[in-house]
Amino acid sequence: MQNNAFLQSLFRKKLIETSEAIDHGHVDGSHPTSQLKRSLSVWDLTSLGVAAVIGAGIFSTVGTASFHGGPAVVWLFVITAVVCGISTACYAEFASKVPAAGSAYTYAYVSLGELIAWIIGWDLIMEYAIGNIAVAISWSSYFSRLLGTYGIHIPRFLTTDYVSAYRGFQQVTALTAGGQSLPDALAHVDAATASAYQAWSLAPKLAGVPFICNLPALGIVIAVTYVAYIGIREAKWTANAMVALKILVILMIIFVGAAYVHPENWVPFAPNGVGGVFKGVSAVFFAYIGFDAISTTAEECRNPQRDLPRAMFYSLGICTLLYSGIALVITGIVNYRNLAVADPLAFVFGASGANLPWMSAIVAVSAVVAMTSVLLVFQLGQPRIWMAMSRDRLLPKIFASIHPRYKTPWFSTLLTGVLVAIPALFMNMTEVTDLTSIGTLFAFLLVCGGTIRLHEDRRKLQALGAPAKPGARRAFHVPIIGSRVLMPLGFALAAGAVWYFNRDGFLALLDFGLPWDLLKEKLPLYGYLVGSVALLGGCLTWNLSLIPCLGLLSCGYLMTELGWTNWARFLIWLGIGLVIYFTYGRVRSALHEGASAGGVRR
Ligand code: ALA
Repeated sequence: MQNNAFLQSLFRKKLIETSEAIDHGHVDGSHPTSQLKRSLSVWDLTSLGVAAVIGAGIFSTVGTASFHGGPAVVWLFVITAVVCGISTACYAEFASKVPAAGSAYTYAYVSLGELIAWIIGWDLIMEYAIGNIAVAISWSSYFSRLLGTYGIHIPRFLTTDYVSAYRGFQQVTALTAGGQSLPDALAHVDAATASAYQAWSLAPKLAGVPFICNLPALGIVIAVTYVAYIGIREAKWTANAMVALKILVILMIIFVGAAYVHPENWVPFAPNGVGGVFKGVSAVFFAYIGFDAISTTAEECRNPQRDLPRAMFYSLGICTLLYSGIALVITGIVNYRNLAVADPLAFVFGASGANLPWMSAIVAVSAVVAMTSVLLVFQLGQPRIWMAMSRDRLLPKIFASIHPRYKTPWFSTLLTGVLVAIPALFMNMTEVTDLTSIGTLFAFLLVCGGTIRLHEDRRKLQALGAPAKPGARRAFHVPIIGSRVLMPLGFALAAGAVWYFNRDGFLALLDFGLPWDLLKEKLPLYGYLVGSVALLGGCLTWNLSLIPCLGLLSCGYLMTELGWTNWARFLIWLGIGLVIYFTYGRVRSALHEGASAGGVRR
């Protein structure tokens, strides 16, 4: 009995009542005690989505993705857009039904219960705060390069992270130890490694340890935190202006660049096959992250129920078109082998590509602007998720405290600033990008899971002939399509395709006698296959809603591409979150008090 009560408490749920209450005018779509200003229209929200999405991904990490995948990286942009589109639909259904701040966290709370909601809220820190660390690092590298073009040079040890500098030093030292002279060794490695080596060797030493940090990254995080602290109105106008500029520049890159495309660079289109294309998953997915951040502003929208879903689809559609255009243009201007650079969009217009220095300069300026707007949206989003968690008392009260003058969650905003600024001084870009991608895919996966549950409830209500509530009629719905026939068919087709196109890969999966180092890399895929078969069982038994099931499968698959080390870090992060939940949130939760007073609220 006690065990049963314990389990019930973990999965206690908040009720979905907001959309109906809005229709009846009891509340205005926000938390009843919300004090945030309600100023955002559908275009402000779309602009916020684009502001969050177009940034370090397309200006920076797309370079390595193109290097691995060749021109066929455009497939990955389309595949990722489809995966994000399914998740967007699920997000949109929730966002229009639960228009309160907190994004996927709130959605999970009403559909999957408190424990999953906590996990997702904790996990979203990876998307927002850790994602912003990556963007700040990338911002810093473009900004330093831009200053360099005006003859202002910040010492390298103040624009590099410790890990990259150390690795660069090790790599060059290994070459010199092997007999090469230093100039030869520096000429032998790529520009980033040479720069990292110099950062390490020229850094001042404190007690023998080189002092290396990324100062511009710190500076931009402080500036953006200040804007977020003083309020959404200022942030909105700043974001709108920055978005207009970056869309304009991306269109310029596509149209000006199109004239410099050499179609022979597109042959072969997929030089490293499907495997090469999928090496770019983390980088490409990172480029799409952000449209869901719109939903964290639900309490600041004029009409959240109508506008949130629309804005999510608009921003995803705009970004997909722009990204596909960019991928084709950059791999058409220069050979994909030359694209492993930190600033691919500026690079293709430089001397090794179209040789239009004025375009390179415009791209560099707009990259700085684009990334500033990404930073701004996430710096606004993270505190609003914490605010929602704190209102449910899963976090201390102060996280929801609103500034009397600026009407912003001031404490959470400042804390986000500190959590992004300090690691941005020292952390390495690739590792942070990978963590952000795995964390965000997991959040998407849980939202798709929540939608399956919502659809089950909707079907039960329909079967009982219950009339739709006025709010529910106006909300966005993902169509419910049965999966009992289509899912087994899809599995058979997928298995057949893998067998036909990649028989060796298929058979290698059955080889369990590998050493641990190789076997561990396969563990995420094994986990995925077991989960997929379980889902197939669910589809056959309960005829689950097809579209969110496809969301689960596709997000899960992309997660398997992210490597064991990344998974291990992700699982450790989740473990820390669970310890905090069981020692703090579970017993202080608002629903726990409800349960003690009169039974668990479900
Ligand atoms: N999508 C965002 C970017 O690329 C996170 O910067």
